[in-house]
Amino acid sequence: MARVLTGIQSSGRQHLGNILGAIRPAIELANDPKNEAFLFIADLHSLTTIKDANLRKENVLATAAAWLACGLDTDKVVFYRQSDIPQVTEMTWYLNCFTPYPMLANAHSFKDKSENLADVNAGLFIYPVLMACDILMYDANIVPVGKDQKQHLEMTRDIARSVNHQLKKEILVIPESKISEEVMVIPGTDGRKMSKSYNNFIDVFLPEKQLRKQVMGIVTDSTPMEEPKDPDACNAFALYSLLASESQIVEMRQNYLGGNYGYGHAKQAFFELILEEFAEERKRFDKLIAQPELIEKFLLEGAQKAKPVADDVLGRLKSAIGY
Ligand code: ADP
Ligand code: TRP
Repeated sequence: MARVLTGIQSSGRQHLGNILGAIRPAIELANDPKNEAFLFIADLHSLTTIKDANLRKENVLATAAAWLACGLDTDKVVFYRQSDIPQVTEMTWYLNCFTPYPMLANAHSFKDKSENLADVNAGLFIYPVLMACDILMYDANIVPVGKDQKQHLEMTRDIARSVNHQLKKEILVIPESKISEEVMVIPGTDGRKMSKSYNNFIDVFLPEKQLRKQVMGIVTDSTPMEEPKDPDACNAFALYSLLASESQIVEMRQNYLGGNYGYGHAKQAFFELILEEFAEERKRFDKLIAQPELIEKFLLEGAQKAKPVADDVLGRLKSAIGY
């Protein structure tokens, strides 16, 4: 049985792009009985950029609520919050001392962040070592991540090899990354990649009125209602097709080509489809977000399951180093 582990950025509310591009595939992988899955919310990493404690807490709750609402089953997945196992910060110190400085200085993500952020703190620099510990502390075999995390995974493997080599013992398990090359990129309301940073997202957990407003904000051209329209050049059509069945897509294509069908009609159809497709998830999300103590309970139960593994690996490492 392979242990699959991945970290989730606690960046707050999860949009349609996150759900289709990350949450659903990860839950599918976690539910495969051949795997044992560890999923955690990386709230220690978020301290590199978010210093407001309440905002970090809200982000953790909203992120957890979205994952749970989308079907994450805590009986099948060890689902926890990174900061509930503080052993990972202790391990980060040890591994810092086995990590070559130039490796961190050459990390793409650090270069990128240090050019774009006002607060360039040492946590940003050490970020990949904490991430390596997230993985190595749980003897993970497979780490599914997006392409942007590829270098961090290579660094994790290099750090683990360096530890094993210098301690002359196979202390740490070398993980394999699973990079989804053909990740589908969900377009946002303006046609660019859907992202929180572009403010072009659709948040399917919003109350109906606000959700409808987001959907109506999908950018389309100014072809008049009566005229035929090109479905393949239309973002509303692309978004609709992501959720629609084959026959619904065929019908919508005919509507576009036939004329007398406005973009407003297509957006309304997409809005109704979201309500239908995410009916259960929306209900569960509302229930969870109104009961933060329940989310808290799930996360603490997850931490109880993760902790013995962390203690075991940390113990192995410390005794090999000589503490
Ligand atoms: P954002 O761009 O909104 O800040 P994140 O970078 O926090 O999103 O992404 C979290 C996860 O969701 C990542 O695994 C990422 O690959 C996935 N994801 C985000 N946006 C999209 C999108 N538009 N299409 C597909 N997957 C996405
Ligand atoms: N850095 C990852 C991201 O930005 C999140 C993360 C933290 C992670 N620790 C991890 C992912 C460990 C996989 C494994 O998405």
